[in-house]
Amino acid sequence: MPVTAVVGAQWGDEGKGRIVDYLAQRADMVIRFQGGDNAGHTVVNEHGKFALHIMPSGIFNPMARCVVGAGTVINPDNLVVELEEVESAGVDTDRLILSDRAHLVLPYHPLIDSLQEAARSEGDVIGTTKRGIGPTYADKAARWGLRLGDVKRLDYFQRRLRNVLPRKNREIEELGGTPLREDELMAKAEAWNARIGHRIKDTFPIVRDAVKADERILLEGQLGIMRDLDWGTYPYVTSSNPIAGHSAVGAGLPPTAMTEVIGVVKAYCTAVGAGPFPVELHDALGQKLRDEGHEYGATTGRPRRCGWFDGVAIKFAAWLNGFTGLAITKLDVLDTFEEIKICTGYRFEGEVLDYVPDTPVYEQVEPVYETWPGWQTSTRHARVWDDLPKPARAFLHRISELAGVRIQFVSVGAERDELIVMRL
Ligand code: GDP
Ligand code: IMO
Ligand code: MG
Repeated sequence: MPVTAVVGAQWGDEGKGRIVDYLAQRADMVIRFQGGDNAGHTVVNEHGKFALHIMPSGIFNPMARCVVGAGTVINPDNLVVELEEVESAGVDTDRLILSDRAHLVLPYHPLIDSLQEAARSEGDVIGTTKRGIGPTYADKAARWGLRLGDVKRLDYFQRRLRNVLPRKNREIEELGGTPLREDELMAKAEAWNARIGHRIKDTFPIVRDAVKADERILLEGQLGIMRDLDWGTYPYVTSSNPIAGHSAVGAGLPPTAMTEVIGVVKAYCTAVGAGPFPVELHDALGQKLRDEGHEYGATTGRPRRCGWFDGVAIKFAAWLNGFTGLAITKLDVLDTFEEIKICTGYRFEGEVLDYVPDTPVYEQVEPVYETWPGWQTSTRHARVWDDLPKPARAFLHRISELAGVRIQFVSVGAERDELIVMRL
């Protein structure tokens, strides 16, 4: 604090929601800076269990303002469903505001996402969440996008839609889908304005004034660096930048305002979707990680690919993100393992790489492992460092050493207080 980015240091689902929910208890503002409702950020606290998709995980602090920033993409229909879920648990959502510059995920985007995935030949399938994220960011970059603020000016919305929709419908028809009607989309825009129009704001002065007032601000990332559009395993990536360097852009504050970057990292690795994942285990140990860690997607329910901790990926993540601290989650999932491995290098053509190479090379690397003894006792009740068994501390030390970053939090359970706080 005061401006702390919390970002994924692996392939997503590291437990960002859980860490943001904890930190948000002392935050004045929480901002989602990129991505859309492809996110599934699980939060377990006194209000219940939630899989948040677009809403910042700070929504449970009644004092914190929550902002969905300019760098995000928003599907208003799904947002309304999420609002209803959270509100029905008795949580006040009045403090949630949405940037008028965020791009709209319109009904043709998820449709095109699904049709495009179906049209890809084997080997080219990305395994997207089918939430329309790629097509929405593609339209944003190509300057065909409509933005959230446009639903408050229906004449403007209609004028832009009339330019865009015929193109989108041609694309849909080429892919074998059913075209969409302008009047239906206009009716939707009108309904969205009525339902969420009051939350749509120019967030520029709001965030600027919060920074000037030295408010404690959290920037919540979506996904993880290994799926970053520039630095991830392209093309098996998302269409935004989960990397910390982008958080200032997407939230709307200067990079010099940022004071801390916390990398959230699981004590092992998981990935959903296609693409190289060198540490993946295809055997009983991989299944054990999936079972013990309940590794099924929070958004799509897909089984996650599981593997050992990747020390090369964390080194890469730490350098590119500039982590000032690590939050290591799901240590308890390893409690019953006899031995635990850590990948310390990638073997490629007789050499050992200590960084993540570009995808065609990455597809061919072989992980080099070191083996650590397990602790075979429960860590669920540990609340301070010294409560942890010695082999667990040694394992965590090694992770910290490989990353070159100090540990700030160790999570030993999904609930808010199942956490060891090393320093605040
Ligand atoms: P996110 O997308 O980064 O917020 O992570 P997800 O919510 O998709 O996935 C993390 C999963 O692990 C969720 O089911 C969490 O409830 C759970 N979780 C988070 N931290 C811990 C932990 O320390 N131990 C255990 N056992 N589960 C955890
Ligand atoms: P959180 O924020 C894990 C993956 C998809 C696919 C790729 C592109 O909960 O960590 P997209 O729908 O973004 O075009 O899909 O990215 N993916 C995620 N994997 N956690 C997520 O979010 C993800 N969001 C997208 O599986 O491989
Ligand atoms: Mg998730």
